Amino acid sequence: MSIIQVKHLQKRYGDNEIIKDIDFQIDYGECVALLGPNGAGKTTIIKMLLDITKPTGGQILFQGKRHDKMREFIGYLPQHPTFYSWMTGMELLEFMGGLSGLYKEILEQRIKELLDLVGLTKEKDKQIGTYSGGMKQRLGIAQALIHQPKLLIMDEPVSALDPIGRRDMLELLKVIKQKSTILFSTHILHDAEELCDKILILNQGKLLVNGLINQVINQNQQPVFIIQAPRVNEWAPQLVNEDIVESIVETGSSAKVRVKNIEQGRIWLLDNISRLRLPIQKFELVQESLEEIFLRMVK
Ligand SMILES: Nc1ncnc2c1ncn2[C@@H]1O[C@H](COP(=O)(O)OP(=O)(O)OP(=O)(O)O)[C@@H](O)[C@H]1O
Ligand SMILES: [Mg+2]
Repeated sequence: MSIIQVKHLQKRYGDNEIIKDIDFQIDYGECVALLGPNGAGKTTIIKMLLDITKPTGGQILFQGKRHDKMREFIGYLPQHPTFYSWMTGMELLEFMGGLSGLYKEILEQRIKELLDLVGLTKEKDKQIGTYSGGMKQRLGIAQALIHQPKLLIMDEPVSALDPIGRRDMLELLKVIKQKSTILFSTHILHDAEELCDKILILNQGKLLVNGLINQVINQNQQPVFIIQAPRVNEWAPQLVNEDIVESIVETGSSAKVRVKNIEQGRIWLLDNISRLRLPIQKFELVQESLEEIFLRMVK
């Protein structure tokens, strides 16, 4: 069952069309990554889902209907969260729980569970100003979950963290996703692959890809041959062929040759390797990673 359906969503600022007729849906229990380079429109979409920004076209449906109190059902961690640095972690959660209208007894229990979940029980009485970036992000997750939302939305939750903070956060999200529906934006492909079932790839306000990660990889694969031989810069330019070769990228001692068709490409390349008498050390057909597919699509 779908929790959110987005239909023909559009956003304009003046003459600039920032989001261009986008459709997608998020089903209960899914973990969905919204991927895109800087300026693609990720934050704009998230703000429209949260009713912080109004769409200039299209619809957002919650459980199949228009809803004017969507925020009751959504927990949100913004891209650049700010906290009162003089508050303690505990005080922030009490404050946010109060704003969500939770009764004191329920709130106390909920805060205990959340501090435990995000690993901040020991630091709960320290001022947030003394927290590391990773601790602040984990506190941000706790405040987003305080009212037991049906959907957790996070805008680049790991981008600003160091490798340790990022690892902690990914492990925490793996636990949270077992019980929650999650949408998070990122430009780090690896995080999407590690956590999510489904990806949405956005570029310049257009949705290029919407599907399960494995399907996206299978459907968008372009065959790539790796040819390794000395003096790549001398022979690689001679393998440019508009009919068969899509692109050639020289990488150190080898060239990555993307072809339009595996069989024709293989025969053509082997003929040319023989014609050029290349002393090849390696000739290999490889699968493109999600990162390569993403980079090709957004370029
Ligand atoms: N209030 C606004 N007025 C005018 N243009 C805006 C406004 N907010 C965003 N934009 C433009 O919309 C485009 C998309 O911005 P958005 O912040 O949604 O991108 P993003 O994918 O979240 O990027 P990033 O990875 O840098 O966070 C950008 O070109 C931005 O300049
Ligand atoms: Mg953004």
